[in-house]
Amino acid sequence: MNILITGGAGFIGSHVVRLFVEKYPNYHIFNLDALTYAGNLENLKDIESKSNYTFLKGDITDEFFVNKVFEKYKFEGVIHLAAESHVDRSIKDPLCFVKTNVIGSMILLNAFKNTWKDHFENKLFYHVSTDEVYGTLGQIGLFTETTSYDPNSPYSASKASSDHFVRAYGETYNMPYVITNCSNNYGQNQFPEKLIPLFINNIINNKPLPVYGDGNYTRDWLYVKDHAIAIDLVFHQGKSGETYNIGGFNEWKNIDLVKLLCQQMDAKLNRAEGTSEKLITYVKDRPGHDLRYAIDASKINKELGWKPSVTFEEGLKKTIDWYLNNEEWLNSVTSGDYQLYYEKQYKNG
Ligand code: NAD
Ligand code: TYD
Repeated sequence: MNILITGGAGFIGSHVVRLFVEKYPNYHIFNLDALTYAGNLENLKDIESKSNYTFLKGDITDEFFVNKVFEKYKFEGVIHLAAESHVDRSIKDPLCFVKTNVIGSMILLNAFKNTWKDHFENKLFYHVSTDEVYGTLGQIGLFTETTSYDPNSPYSASKASSDHFVRAYGETYNMPYVITNCSNNYGQNQFPEKLIPLFINNIINNKPLPVYGDGNYTRDWLYVKDHAIAIDLVFHQGKSGETYNIGGFNEWKNIDLVKLLCQQMDAKLNRAEGTSEKLITYVKDRPGHDLRYAIDASKINKELGWKPSVTFEEGLKKTIDWYLNNEEWLNSVTSGDYQLYYEKQYKNG
């Protein structure tokens, strides 16, 4: 069975690729990735020479290239993770998000449809999406699979759009698909533009910790390896045409999370208690900042028996350990363009 995983050199994708390559020696896993700033083959060094793994460097918006690889390898399953994934970047350059997340997804959908025409038996297009498509919650309530879409950022609008197209292809062409909408992931190999790795890197370097607004925004956090396990489960046991919400049952206000991170980092770095908290700096808020995300993950729990395996405290410790033990990885991704991004993003903070 040939399986295409897009965006496999990125954060979540690399964990999914590793899990599939190691767990399913009888599958051949193709990782298609453009290696943007967020893609890094170092994330897959340990499995790159496995005989059931092939890396394909290419852009999902390149229709000619995508059609060519589908023709050649006839992928029976697609797990689509490639995307522009950072809300702040989507505010600065929304069109880039439309190109990759909407047009790129469409090109993949067409290639999959044209490869199998009406012969979709035992085929599956799995679209990996986000809880951000549902917009924002107030102080109470949870997102369920039937919550209306109400995206607020160019990122979430582009993901919502691709979700709609996947569903439309299912209805119109009988294309078998599943969609999962997951909450915020954290863990090893996450690019340090997102909250947790950015703050870990800044604490290591004694730099200010830029908390947006009053810090009272809430997110539900899931350890990345638990997300990869959920993707494996849904890919093999999910019902075609269904959506599953995936979440950590783990809500944190940003400021409380940052304080916990500071405490754990002080302990790891043998710094006096309270040292890192002094780096907290409240900065200008993100425009259109969603107040709260929280997932009701009871469907995947009841139907497929999935639940997170790691507590947040454990997951955060593993994450911190990984970043402290992988200084070279961190230094290489935070040199060059990252410095320019950082200066531009945080110059007024
Ligand atoms: P990431 O930014 O770390 O990685 C994205 C990967 O996609 C990179 O390897 C990049 O090189 C590749 N890519 C980008 N544009 C491409 C293109 N045009 N063609 C081919 N490859 C391209 O993202 P992530 O955090 O790992 O997220 C993966 C997926 O999961 C995304 O679809 C995202 O929307 C979704 N998701 C992420 C989170 C999260 O918390 N990170 C939560 C829920 C859902
Ligand atoms: P982020 O990791 O960008 O994920 P998302 O926006 O997809 O939820 O941000 C998580 C939360 O942390 C969000 O409420 C924005 C906030 N945040 C900061 O306060 N400061 C920062 O420098 C970053 C990157 C995020």
